[in-house]
Amino acid sequence: MSISEPDISPAVLEEAVNPSPPSMDRLREDLRRTREDIARGHPQAVARQHALGKRTARERLDLLLDEGSFVEIEMFRRHRAHGLGMERKRPYTDGVVAGSGTINGRRVFVYAQDFTVFGGSLGEAHAMKIQKVLDLALSTGSPFIGLNDSGGARIQEGVMSLNGYGGIFHRSVQASGVIPQISVVLGPCAGGAAYSTALADFTFMVRDIAQLYLTGPDVVEAVTGERVTHAELGGAHVHASKSGLATFVHNDEESCLAAVRDLVSMLPSNNLSRLPSLPPRGATTDLRPRLAEIVPVDTRKPYDMRLVMAELVDDGDLIELHRDWAANVVCALARIDGEVVGLVGNQPMVLAGVLDVEASQKAARFVRFCDAFSIPLVTLVDVPGFLPGKDQEHAGVIRHGAKLLYAYCEATVPRIQVILRKAYGGAYIVMDSRSIGADLSLAWPTNEVAVMGAEGAVNIIHRKELAATADPVTTRAELVDRYTRELAHPAYTAERGLVDEVIDPVETRAAVARGLAMLRDKRKQAVPRKHGNLPL
Ligand code: HXC
Repeated sequence: MSISEPDISPAVLEEAVNPSPPSMDRLREDLRRTREDIARGHPQAVARQHALGKRTARERLDLLLDEGSFVEIEMFRRHRAHGLGMERKRPYTDGVVAGSGTINGRRVFVYAQDFTVFGGSLGEAHAMKIQKVLDLALSTGSPFIGLNDSGGARIQEGVMSLNGYGGIFHRSVQASGVIPQISVVLGPCAGGAAYSTALADFTFMVRDIAQLYLTGPDVVEAVTGERVTHAELGGAHVHASKSGLATFVHNDEESCLAAVRDLVSMLPSNNLSRLPSLPPRGATTDLRPRLAEIVPVDTRKPYDMRLVMAELVDDGDLIELHRDWAANVVCALARIDGEVVGLVGNQPMVLAGVLDVEASQKAARFVRFCDAFSIPLVTLVDVPGFLPGKDQEHAGVIRHGAKLLYAYCEATVPRIQVILRKAYGGAYIVMDSRSIGADLSLAWPTNEVAVMGAEGAVNIIHRKELAATADPVTTRAELVDRYTRELAHPAYTAERGLVDEVIDPVETRAAVARGLAMLRDKRKQAVPRKHGNLPL
């Protein structure tokens, strides 16, 4: 039997020639064979998919879900479109395998588009299947995962395809902040499918096979005359390093789907469920001498903030997001003393850790995700300020920086700030200062919180003095020294209650773990309103 032809089952044929009904055994055997045929797919199309270096939808689900846990829905679904020869091509599944399964024993809802059927394109029936699993994910409070491999809206089904996408987008937005949504791109993800991905909380892409764009290279050439390859237009590298759409990139489907499993194990099932925390590891008394070595006292010297994070978390239990995009800020999900936390840290190794347009966007979205799902925030501060200049101002650094400010101001989860070294100006405020609602602020003896660094400050407030002196070098050094002693000494902020404790760097893991334990039962109700007006 070909899955692309309407078929008459042997039992029905038999009934036509023999009026007595077929036996139950016969019907069961019939059903078994039909299901097997559907699951096997069209051999040539499957071979073509494999030749493209891609797995089939069902092979992917096998990798993603716990063995034997997949429960399929609407395997027998077919489209009911007319015209353009569609009546003669009515494959079962309609190009998407949908249902539910478990990941490490926890329920998830999934769909996997089948590129072997109409190029995985989305028509009415295909869309309704995705909408159904999304509805079930929302009503059962379970994570939703989409495996995308699709040419976008099914051209032959016209407006019904567009209507189908609209229904998915609408549901996805209603589910945002209620259940985690994960999009995995394992082939073309064009047109409407690209927006499903943009609405998800996390996007995975696989190098070489994933392409994500609104319109493919042919349309680009026809409209603009520009010739681009699929990879240049929307390959994994582009979205991982330039557009910021890809949260994670992997070399192959196996490692990608294994990483999706790891991510799910770090997320709550919904906004009301408990975090998947592990038993405490005795971190509240754990000293980490390496922390005093990693960070140079000289604030101009760089270091890798990821090394600091590695010392704070439980045995490498950390997943970094957007590793290659806006690398001047590091965002990661991790566990500290068994508790799931969101880590945000300036990265002195990249652009000296300044905040700019992209870093603000990246951190803001992460903070909002953590807040929506009750994940406590730990913010590691070593920031010289916002990046100055015409490019940034014209690109809207104020608007985008305001997103991060807004996200922190709005967050009601437990919030711990750790100031490692410098924290200047607006960037100090934005990086979860006490003034915008941090619950606990810890600072290293190397902390330097001020409107700006000593050199810049001296240039402004002592301009006349420096112009008049016969020995500007000595005078400047003296003024810088005075500024540092009087305004930027380790206890300055703590004396004013804006830092709760100045801690020995080696105690940081222990102090954060104690802080998390202290804040575990934090409850804070926002003032009722329809919604705020986040500066988008
Ligand atoms: C119907 C489609 C299709 C589509 C692919 N196919 N895309 N059928 N509607 N959108 C079919 C092909 O006709 C072909 O069928 C099979 O899928 C495989 O496609 P190929 O082109 O042979 O494969 P490949 O060379 O690998 O190229 C894949 C592709 C290309 C890059 C995805 O097909 C393509 O560019 N498709 C259109 C992409 C696009 O621009 N989509 C935007 C739609 S607009 P046969 O029978 O020959 O095997 C949209 C708007 C929604 O989505 C907006 C909402 C906001």
